Amino acid sequence: MSKQFDVVVIGGGPGGYIAAIRAAQLGFNTACIDEWKNEKGGPAPGGTCTNVGCIPSKALLQSSEHFEQAGHHFADHGIGLKDLSIDVAKMLGRKDTVVKQNNDGILYLFKKNKVTFFHGRGSFVKAADGGYELKVAGAAEETITAKHVVVATGSNPRALPGAAFDEENILSNDGALRIPAVPKKLGVIGAGVIGLEMGSVWRRLGAEVTVLEALPVFLGAVDETIAKEAQKALKKQGLNIEVGVKISEVKSDKKGVTVAYANAKGEAQTLAVDKLIVSIGRVPNTIGLNAESVGLKLDERGAIAVDDDCKTNLPNVWAIGDVVRGPMLAHKAEEEGVAVAERIAGQHGHVNFNTVPWVIYTSPEIAWVGQTEQQLKAEGRAYKAGSFPFMANGRARALGDTTGLVKVIADAKTDEILGVHMVGPYVSELIAEAVVAMEFKASAEDIARICHAHPSLSEATKEAALAVDKRTLNF
Ligand code: FAD
Ligand code: NAI
Repeated sequence: MSKQFDVVVIGGGPGGYIAAIRAAQLGFNTACIDEWKNEKGGPAPGGTCTNVGCIPSKALLQSSEHFEQAGHHFADHGIGLKDLSIDVAKMLGRKDTVVKQNNDGILYLFKKNKVTFFHGRGSFVKAADGGYELKVAGAAEETITAKHVVVATGSNPRALPGAAFDEENILSNDGALRIPAVPKKLGVIGAGVIGLEMGSVWRRLGAEVTVLEALPVFLGAVDETIAKEAQKALKKQGLNIEVGVKISEVKSDKKGVTVAYANAKGEAQTLAVDKLIVSIGRVPNTIGLNAESVGLKLDERGAIAVDDDCKTNLPNVWAIGDVVRGPMLAHKAEEEGVAVAERIAGQHGHVNFNTVPWVIYTSPEIAWVGQTEQQLKAEGRAYKAGSFPFMANGRARALGDTTGLVKVIADAKTDEILGVHMVGPYVSELIAEAVVAMEFKASAEDIARICHAHPSLSEATKEAALAVDKRTLNF
């Protein structure tokens, strides 16, 4: 007889493992199936985020930032260093250790919460009664049944036509996280989140980095003031970013990669690099799920079609995270995982898409929540905006990092905060205050009247809120 569960989650990334834990907390007999393998063939739950995404990229950003600080900024503090060097193998080893700690942490959490873990591929199989069962293909093959299935199978990198990933020369996020030695010249196609983060890592370590972006503007989805400031800062650091390009051909051989493209003026150009990262977005992953056998509907992008509650077209089959519509972010996947588990329990799980924060972990960091000025203008909504530069913030001066600003945008009449946009030091942390404020429908005046510790970077948020009403105190 097949094993029976109340809830089975397919995919153990941030969406799936969190959904499984929450379902178990709510008293369901829960299983999670994940096929990711570590280098020894063992389980490595945590998905893209843990294995080749959020976590390893932040580990390398940290290592490379230390190197950058030691090489270019320690001297300002009177700290002298001789013979600064980078041991790439050691840096990559540390990153792998951080990843493994997270893999092990998830396996521990499954045990703690009594989630049954299957290491293998999960797929739908049509059952004799016309419904479905689940096949798990791991070391052994078995069939299990579930009252509810949550599909959380994530996404895969999009390849550039004619330039398949070989992870030697033409790299996806996976290869970009394990280049064995600093390349002399690195090309990046796509100035999105991965391109900027991974480009920053290797630039800080000494690579000459050129980023080629198809869109005519840099970071078009980001508030214009912030995008301009970020572009200026990244250029100053040596990231060469070309916008408005059209790639025509990518050739790869033993010597490296050559990219033929037209620049924004339409002139033919060639870029010769040792390695090329292609980061032009990701596609939802339903490979191996056998979705068609049970009639699970996909949308035109190949994502699993879901309603606002993450319900698919099949009864009791839900889908969350990168494999469905919406931003491809770990915290969005997690929120959907919790909401779906709670809906299965008859509760009212909810995800507020208006307050999902975005962070790009470059230096300076870029973070935002809510609407941009250009969106509000396009909508014709009356708003007021106030900003405050880190240059006028005492803590930023003490840190020695005064690049950037905080901008608060509020409704012209009600003063409700509509968006908060930041570029500067540690804004990945500062953005949380803005998210809380927006969740509670705070006004700019609310933030302006809250006592913020001094000296702290968060005072820039308070001052930007004061600036909405033209009454900054320190600028
Ligand atoms: P995934 O994390 O992709 O997990 C899906 C899991 O399902 C995988 O383990 C996969 O092996 C498994 N699976 C798939 N099919 C099957 C099957 N049939 N049977 C069994 N298992 C299966 N987001 C952020 O919020 N912050 C960041 O800083 C950030 N950095 C990133 C950096 C990089 C380089 C990349 C590539 C992404 C980054 N992201 C970041 C995005 C984030 O990784 C994704 O949004 C997130 O992982 C999506 O979670 P998920 O659970 O939907 O899918
Ligand atoms: P992206 O969507 O962020 O950026 C892709 C960029 O490539 C865009 O600017 C696009 O205009 C450009 N592009 C597309 N086709 C092109 C072409 N043919 N030639 C040149 N440029 C082209 O996608 P990316 O960077 O691959 O990341 C995928 C997703 O992963 C992100 O959207 C994000 O959801 C997630 N992610 C999140 C991170 C974070 O939260 N800090 C970090 C990294 C990834």
